[in-house]
Amino acid sequence: MANPSLLILPGDGIGPEVMAEVRRVIDWFGANRGLTFDVSEDLVGGAAYDAHGTPLHDDTMAKAQEVDAVLLGAVGGPKYDDLDFSVKPERGLLRLRKEMDLFSNLRPAQCFDALADFSSLKREVVAGLDIMIVRELTSGVYFGEPRGIHREGNERVGINTQRYTESEIARVARSAFDLARKRSNKVCSMEKANVMESGILWREVVQEVHDAEYPDVALTHMYADNGAMQLVRAPKQFDVIVTDNLFGDVLSDCAAMLTGSLGMLPSASLGLPMANGRPKAMYEPVHGSAPDIAGQGKANPIACILSFAMALRYSFDEGAAADLLEGAVEKVLADGVRTADLMGPDGGTPVGTTQMGDAILAALD
Ligand code: NAI
Ligand code: MG
Repeated sequence: MANPSLLILPGDGIGPEVMAEVRRVIDWFGANRGLTFDVSEDLVGGAAYDAHGTPLHDDTMAKAQEVDAVLLGAVGGPKYDDLDFSVKPERGLLRLRKEMDLFSNLRPAQCFDALADFSSLKREVVAGLDIMIVRELTSGVYFGEPRGIHREGNERVGINTQRYTESEIARVARSAFDLARKRSNKVCSMEKANVMESGILWREVVQEVHDAEYPDVALTHMYADNGAMQLVRAPKQFDVIVTDNLFGDVLSDCAAMLTGSLGMLPSASLGLPMANGRPKAMYEPVHGSAPDIAGQGKANPIACILSFAMALRYSFDEGAAADLLEGAVEKVLADGVRTADLMGPDGGTPVGTTQMGDAILAALD
């Protein structure tokens, strides 16, 4: 069988710096675990604009559609702030998400024991936390029609429409149930069926998909406002949470911050299954291009490395390899190795991007 294929798009700012460490991790798995990928690399964002006058070349877009998974660093930076909206670096990212139809956005909130004191919540509430928020990404109130601002009499009225079709709800529900089967088999669906018709439909369709296709997964429903309270009260009660675009935007940012630094947070965006059964997929750190520290070799590569761990688990069914990689990150943190963004108030000497990569490779060995 052919090797699985990976398209790497390092992008701008610290993107190439953190991605260089991911490439070393990929090479490690090839050399030590016989896990070999066909890796190609291309430009996205400002880097692509500089080379081609567009933030995503058509050839790159076509390649992204063909590979088993895309791994992206970050895009953007002050150099591109004055560009026309149509060629801004972020447009490259949006085009990838849209044309690959990546409707299921996975945002884990995972708390490594060594960093539990970084959380704004008590250590015992977050230590060992490992939950996954699945946010519907391509529909809902950010896209529904009618929308706009118009005049009614002597005042302005702003309108957005929450709109979900049955098939849009069903496909993101399937994505959440599939994930749950690779984790602890538990899904909590969040909406506001008490006050929104789209929430009533959401609850019905999630339940129907469950009963017909995933009766083995434990499913519960919760109103999203209560969900927000429960996330900060007792987050460990959850495993997979599935919710719509708007609630997911807010709940995933809230959950992510339970665990500390932006430099630690991976993400994935998944689409429909391809012919080989793997979902269309793009993996990327949550953080941006961090222009304030770009070029200084001090960015934390862990968010990008953990994004690759997600690819191992969710695109390539290599759960054991993902565990190994996450375990190496955990060990390095437990040993007290810290990039600058992870320095506590007691100080200490931070390591740079490459040294963090070295430490993770050593832990893998
Ligand atoms: P940012 O995430 O780039 O940086 C926010 C803060 O977190 C900065 O102080 C930065 O130094 C720090 N930080 C981020 N990642 C880090 C890491 N791996 N290690 C250590 N420190 C880290 O967000 P910001 O400053 O709002 O945006 C900067 C640029 O990135 C903008 O052009 C923005 O449009 C773009 N951006 C791109 C994203 C993407 O490619 N997905 C997401 C967010 C922003
Ligand atoms: Mg947000």
